[in-house]
Amino acid sequence: MTEPLVKQAHLNLFIHGVGHHNAAWRTPSSSAERLRTVDYYTELAQIAERGKFDAVFFADGHSNSITAAEDGPLWNLEPLTLLSAMSRETERIGLVSTISATFYTPFHAARLLASLDWISEGRIGWNVVTSMFDAEAQNHGLEKMPEHAVRYQRAEEFVDVVLQLWDSWPTESILIDREEKPDGEPGQYVNGAKLTELNHSGEHFAVRGPLNVPRPPQGHPVLFQAGASEQGRELAARRAEAIYAVAYDLPAGQEYRSDLRRRMRAQGRSPDSVAVMPGLVTYVGSTMEEARAKQRSLDELLPVESALRQLSVFVGQDAAEWEVDAPVPELPPLEDFTGPKGRYATILRIVETERPTVRQLLGRLAAGGGHCTMVGTPESIADEIELWLDEGGADGFNLMPPSLPHSISEFVDEVTPELQRRGRFRTDYDGTTLRSHLGLEVPAGPK
Ligand SMILES: Cc1cc2nc3c(=O)[nH]c(=O)nc-3n(C[C@H](O)[C@H](O)[C@H](O)COP(=O)(O)O)c2cc1C
Repeated sequence: MTEPLVKQAHLNLFIHGVGHHNAAWRTPSSSAERLRTVDYYTELAQIAERGKFDAVFFADGHSNSITAAEDGPLWNLEPLTLLSAMSRETERIGLVSTISATFYTPFHAARLLASLDWISEGRIGWNVVTSMFDAEAQNHGLEKMPEHAVRYQRAEEFVDVVLQLWDSWPTESILIDREEKPDGEPGQYVNGAKLTELNHSGEHFAVRGPLNVPRPPQGHPVLFQAGASEQGRELAARRAEAIYAVAYDLPAGQEYRSDLRRRMRAQGRSPDSVAVMPGLVTYVGSTMEEARAKQRSLDELLPVESALRQLSVFVGQDAAEWEVDAPVPELPPLEDFTGPKGRYATILRIVETERPTVRQLLGRLAAGGGHCTMVGTPESIADEIELWLDEGGADGFNLMPPSLPHSISEFVDEVTPELQRRGRFRTDYDGTTLRSHLGLEVPAGPK
């Protein structure tokens, strides 16, 4: 495999309902009626595969808030089940799903992911999260979410045990020896001596092992992570093989990526092997005006009341009476804000750098809630992507199309060819596994 002359991007498609813009389902041509059909998701994976993307990704949550459901399609089909079906209709595209270390057990997770890696012939990845909402905990026999720090301690142990389980039944142990031995001993199916009982006994888990699925084709399905907090970033630095990030603009991307790389070095890992992929919302048009018109047409479909309700949560004050076509009122500085700081910091940055009206701010938050947004022609968006790659803001992007499948088809048909023409993205797959797409080795098996 020839090393590309210039840095090439890794591209991931983040599949979410009928698009990441909260009003996408309200467009007459949206795919809202197809959200319970496997064909809808398979077609999205086939579009990403046609674009030679590294992978498609599903987020996952364990609750269904009724008010959120009234506002639009949040959850429909369980992602691991979907990936299994999608793997049969695709050949090269990586298939990534979230797994919650708070609500799964390591044995379940290891078994499901190993099986999917065999079914997909080595194309599986998992995004380790600790989940967020009490409503999720209340579906798993808990009153409220365990403390953030406890969730990450559990996640650290969870990941360690899953990796050991994958190594506990090496494929080399499988003999399928049908021959009876001269001493009359029957042939063996497996050389048991090569299987390992973990007998793990930790603070959160007790797991005997071995796993009852052989070590999968990639050795270990690829581990993704998207931590923002101190513990989240430390887990990513210690274990993640690819990272999903939130970066509203290039300086935010540079800050996050350089911090993660510093932490990886501190863990004795080489940061170049780990792709950091911020979320990216794109509006593509043959002219800047056409692209902006696409953004406006979705923003105008946003029911202001529910959008202002969501904004009130983000800014920790009642925004219901704000004049939507007037500039965003003065907001208290970050240090005086007591709610979740990540998103509030992004809102202050949007207000500071774009001086938006309330309606424009609602639009910015409605699609990707604070992730980077690029509006423009294929050439101007390719320029911005190159800038992030060359200025250390990203190793690629986790695309969050405002409307599906429209926005991802546009990106694959117009932006990807521009990136390929500039040598900034692969023109074809070199390998067949997700690890090969991400330039990752297969981890060495047990000695
Ligand atoms: C691209 C992306 C995808 C995420 N997917 C999920 C998800 O599917 N389920 C979930 O509970 N959290 C998800 N998260 C939230 C993160 O796992 C994490 O909780 C959040 O970034 C806050 O960081 P912290 O956990 O370090 O505080 C995602 C975050 C990002 C940036």
